[in-house]
Amino acid sequence: YKRVTVKSLTEMKANNEKISMLTAYDYTMAKIIDSAGIDVILVGDSASNVMAGHETTLPITLDQMIYHASSVVRAVERALVVVDLPFGSYQSDPKEALRSAIRIMKESGGHSVKLEGGSEVKESIKRILHAGIPVMGHLGLTPQSIYKFGTYTVRAKEAEEAEKLVQDALALERWGCFALVLEKVPAALAQKVAEQLTIPVIGIGAGAGVDGQVLVSHDMFGMTHEFNPRFLRRYLNLYEEMGNAVANYVKDVKAVDFPNDEEQY
Ligand code: KIV
Ligand code: NA
Repeated sequence: YKRVTVKSLTEMKANNEKISMLTAYDYTMAKIIDSAGIDVILVGDSASNVMAGHETTLPITLDQMIYHASSVVRAVERALVVVDLPFGSYQSDPKEALRSAIRIMKESGGHSVKLEGGSEVKESIKRILHAGIPVMGHLGLTPQSIYKFGTYTVRAKEAEEAEKLVQDALALERWGCFALVLEKVPAALAQKVAEQLTIPVIGIGAGAGVDGQVLVSHDMFGMTHEFNPRFLRRYLNLYEEMGNAVANYVKDVKAVDFPNDEEQY
């Protein structure tokens, strides 16, 4: 079947077809998500929280992102794979940003990179794009700046921050980004941005007026259970189901019910 490309995403927006996106960090999960027909797989730096148990996305390294991304790429046959540039790999200078993006493309086989911010990272974005690497932007709540914000609450509720967000979004499109993520901003603002841009706007906690939706797969599967933001819809309750499975396994092992006669050599 046809692979999803950065061009197909623009076409989907033009045709009013919403874009579906989920995170994956490993081969097995990526296989399930890709086979089920997702458009975009994000190897998010949320791996820092979800996979490694860190409180923020800041600690994950470029090498660790490449490990996750290469595992995902080996599984994917259809989806577009977007890989997050981790904190510290692109903020200090545009040349380092390009080197980091090149490492992701060469060493993982991912199809594009995502990085957080607007005007602050203009030169880095331009340099990466100049090398022919597609860039997805990320505005609104940008978790790599959590210590500047102080909280994970909704962003751009005030006019000044909203105006900067709109300007940054327009600039990302002008510089040549193929799409952008808007995280946790008012739905009306997100819709306004989506209407002003030709490139797709993918929302998380940004309402239905955008061009697509993204969720962290472990959240939407209900594997995580202490994270309960309003925007999260859980499609399964795997925390409970997997917990029950483990409890049953423990019970069967203790009772010498497992393995049975057919389950041995
Ligand atoms: O790292 C991540 O999972 C993300 C999404 C929440 C957009 O950046
Ligand atoms: Na991210």
